[in-house]
Amino acid sequence: MRIDFHSHILPKMDDGSSGTKESIEMLKILADAGVDLVVLTPHFYRQNENIQKFLERRARSFERLCEAAEAVRGLPDLTLGAEVYFYPSLSSDPDFEKLCIKDTDHILLELPFERFHENFFGEFTNFMNRCRQKIILAHVERYISFGNSEEDIRRIYKTGRNIICQMNCSAIAEAGMLKRNRLMKMISGGMISVLGTDAHNLDSRPPLFKKAEEIIVKKCGKAEFERICRCGEQIF
Ligand SMILES: [Fe+2]
Repeated sequence: MRIDFHSHILPKMDDGSSGTKESIEMLKILADAGVDLVVLTPHFYRQNENIQKFLERRARSFERLCEAAEAVRGLPDLTLGAEVYFYPSLSSDPDFEKLCIKDTDHILLELPFERFHENFFGEFTNFMNRCRQKIILAHVERYISFGNSEEDIRRIYKTGRNIICQMNCSAIAEAGMLKRNRLMKMISGGMISVLGTDAHNLDSRPPLFKKAEEIIVKKCGKAEFERICRCGEQIF
């Protein structure tokens, strides 16, 4: 089963889809790639709104999308989640668990786009010690672009037993040869458990699941891609 674990397809919810028309076209691309299930993960920034307000806004956007999707055949199944920006007291919020991907105990977590300083590792360890949910680290490859080494990423990844890593399909599809080889090494080394398109729109950030699958199968083998599919299925 192919699952897109990271997407900004909910209409007018964040910097993603501009409306239901664009959302439906994005879903058609994913259907064409053979994706069975799309997790809708709009950005959640605690500094901008509380969890309850976010969930209400998300429910309204989801309702609009479902209405529009009803008329179209063959689209992937949809479920709700969020891309939650990390802040140290996050896991103490009484509504924190409501940010889990629906019917799972997994939360997609986005880390700061900066070099991780020593106190960040401490904050993150404290967070993981308190956190009862399982964490999916969003677009784990991206943090390397901010001056972090693969070792820094591994240090985060090994903070708790409850962490798995998600890689962006666009990173795989658009990388030059050197970067692509590095990403494939992360996949074949077993570090990546799930994929996400992180699709925001139809032009600059479209869903590139199909191209990413082709590259993974070619470079790492079909069995590796199937392992990723199985990891995703086990979350539900
Ligand atoms: Fe995202």
